[in-house]
Amino acid sequence: MEFETITYEKKENVAWITLNRPDKLNAQNQTLTAEVIAALGQARDDDEVYIIVITGAGDKAFSAGADISMFPHWSPIDVIKGAKGAQRHYVVVREVPKPVIAMVNGLALGGGCELAMACDIIIASENAMFGQPEITVGVIPGGGGTQILPRLVGEKKAKELIFTGDFISAEEALRLGLVNKVVPADKLRETVDKLIGKLKSKSPAILKFAKIAVNKSLETPLSIGMAIETELFAMCFGTEDQKEGARAFLEKDPAKKTPKYKGR
Ligand code: COA
Repeated sequence: MEFETITYEKKENVAWITLNRPDKLNAQNQTLTAEVIAALGQARDDDEVYIIVITGAGDKAFSAGADISMFPHWSPIDVIKGAKGAQRHYVVVREVPKPVIAMVNGLALGGGCELAMACDIIIASENAMFGQPEITVGVIPGGGGTQILPRLVGEKKAKELIFTGDFISAEEALRLGLVNKVVPADKLRETVDKLIGKLKSKSPAILKFAKIAVNKSLETPLSIGMAIETELFAMCFGTEDQKEGARAFLEKDPAKKTPKYKGR
């Protein structure tokens, strides 16, 4: 598939989706939103892709959010379409049954912060900044920010960030539990590669169950979440990979102790 505003690269079972409008700090126009969704679909349907990484081109931004140049011309109907597209980002990233890593290489603002929050794990460079500055341009977050940020950092901090539009540093985001890890910019790729290595040593089939189970924890009452977990736990026992994991652990021969997972 040819893309105009992103690049899509598949390398060693990893799909790299790079937002590619660096001169506009990777701001998200409708083409970019649609292309990210299409790329995620491509990665989801490709059995050779185990892991997806989303990042931004250039060294300044992951994404500075929705492309504000669209706003002056938008009617409420356009806004609903645009916001639904942005929220769809969130849904699609969460529903892709593969781990999605946000490699945040700079500013993650507005829709950029929302896109990063949709990812399963966020690794950020020290120069990254996070924020929901929509209020500054006269709107509120429309890509899930008002719903997801409070779930991650708590109501009070989310309100402070959304009401003031202030940016926070990567370190502060780490402290708040918004990101998983912060590393110097020149170690960002290496850190993500290390994480990819760890995830690749696990079964893609079982990672899928783990992702679904954890996602459900945010959407259901505890008793239902527990029931879902039991079902998914039981389903693990229907896979070849579960047998392989147990076999490898119980193996006495050191040469055969590393599990060889097949994703089924
Ligand atoms: N939408 C459209 N264009 C954007 C953009 C956005 N969200 N964010 C940055 N850009 C563009 C700028 O207009 C500029 O384009 P130009 O060179 O054609 O003038 C280019 O990207 C570089 O941005 P600039 O503002 O010059 O960089 P800076 O380092 O001075 O400031 C920011 C960086 C992030 C503080 C500033 O760009 C900003 O506030 N962006 C908007 C963030 C935002 O409110 N996002 C939520 C949108 S609802």
